[in-house]
Amino acid sequence: MKTGVSLVVLTFWLVLANSLKCHKCLNRQGNCSETEVEVCKPGQDSCFFEIKRFTGLNADTAKQGCGRSNYCRHYPGGFRGFLFRRMHCCSTDLCLPVTYHASSEGSKNGVECQSCIGNATECGQNAPSEPCIGTQDTCVQISQRFLPGEGLEPIIKGCGNDSFKDVQVVYQIGNNFAYVDQKVCKGSNCNNRTYSVIPAGDPNGLQCYTCQDTGLGECTRDKLQLLNCTGVMDRCVHVRNQENRSVTIQKGCGTQTMCTAYLEIYHPLIWMDSFAECCKTSFCNRAAGPSAPERLPGMVALALLLARMAWK
Ligand SMILES: *[C@@H]1O[C@H](CO)[C@@H](O)[C@H](O)[C@H]1NC(C)=O
Ligand SMILES: *[C@@H]1O[C@H](CO)[C@@H](O)[C@H](O)[C@H]1NC(C)=O
Ligand SMILES: *[C@@H]1O[C@H](CO)[C@@H](O)[C@H](O)[C@H]1NC(C)=O
Ligand SMILES: *[C@@H]1O[C@H](CO)[C@@H](O)[C@H](O)[C@H]1NC(C)=O
Ligand SMILES: *[C@@H]1O[C@H](CO)[C@@H](O)[C@H](O)[C@H]1NC(C)=O
Ligand SMILES: *[C@@H]1O[C@H](CO)[C@@H](O)[C@H](O)[C@H]1NC(C)=O
Repeated sequence: MKTGVSLVVLTFWLVLANSLKCHKCLNRQGNCSETEVEVCKPGQDSCFFEIKRFTGLNADTAKQGCGRSNYCRHYPGGFRGFLFRRMHCCSTDLCLPVTYHASSEGSKNGVECQSCIGNATECGQNAPSEPCIGTQDTCVQISQRFLPGEGLEPIIKGCGNDSFKDVQVVYQIGNNFAYVDQKVCKGSNCNNRTYSVIPAGDPNGLQCYTCQDTGLGECTRDKLQLLNCTGVMDRCVHVRNQENRSVTIQKGCGTQTMCTAYLEIYHPLIWMDSFAECCKTSFCNRAAGPSAPERLPGMVALALLLARMAWK
């Protein structure tokens, strides 16, 4: 009995002794303190170093911890909209797979903002804070929810310049609901809120066609589904491919901001070369093919025709 117990204890210590140790922290500089160390669990065979950036925001995030080398190899790195991500790995105790220097050109302007790209837990009320640089004296917080399969980082916090504004983009494709909620504020660390949840809301009377093209022709006329719009979604939207405008990517309900704030806000959500068109009346997003909206009022159609002729 006794031997059994000590064997178990011995095995336990052997396993522990054999376990990989990694730095574990999340901040801007990527330098964990000496005590921020993690003993890896079975299956975690590497230490990762993950770098995230968001164009236009001082939100750079470096995260370290134990991970799996297989995940590291298949990490979805590169740009997705304004978000850039990369992961490096190594597999010896407390190893550092990259030499990392957070970029910080310009002088501090006296404001500090929470700076963090990640999930609701790591970038919540106690997210790390960083001094802001140059003209970036506005604290920005972006909370986002994506369509399935597009899962990126739910929260982005950082220092931004005056071109960041409060804006909300909400849309629904089929049963899937997505949004970007961007809030700005002045004053150090005022972007200290938790993830903001926008409810889908109740039906608002507008009905739109909906589809999501996966290359199987889901957006052809005969396959379109109906969708009852809810909450603040008071537009029908039609998302087309930027390069070939006769290719429909999605249809559904959305907010007007999806069409006006497209470049800054919607682009990070959809990430591929696309653009959205909004219209106001039920079923107005049926238009398929390269033609403009289905039934143009006569005068507008005539004006367009004349314009086109004049152009030629
Ligand atoms: C990381 O480095 C920065 C700048 O060199 C320093 O201010 C900060 O205290 C360091 N953080 C830790 C956790 O050691
Ligand atoms: C904010 O920064 C972007 C580049 O990140 C720049 O293009 C833009 O002009 C700046 N806007 C203001 C108001 O300073
Ligand atoms: C957020 O990330 C942390 C650290 O990587 C992880 O432990 C936690 O489960 C995640 N939380 C959510 C809500 O996904
Ligand atoms: C968040 O920031 C506001 C304004 O700076 C401050 O009044 C408040 O105490 C902060 N909340 C937390 C939880 O730190
Ligand atoms: C949408 O709303 C209409 C009219 O209120 C209703 O008849 C229909 O059942 C609703 N469709 C769905 C899918 O909820
Ligand atoms: C655009 O897409 C349509 C429909 O898929 C296709 O028939 C057409 O050839 C494409 N045009 C170009 C220029 O790629």
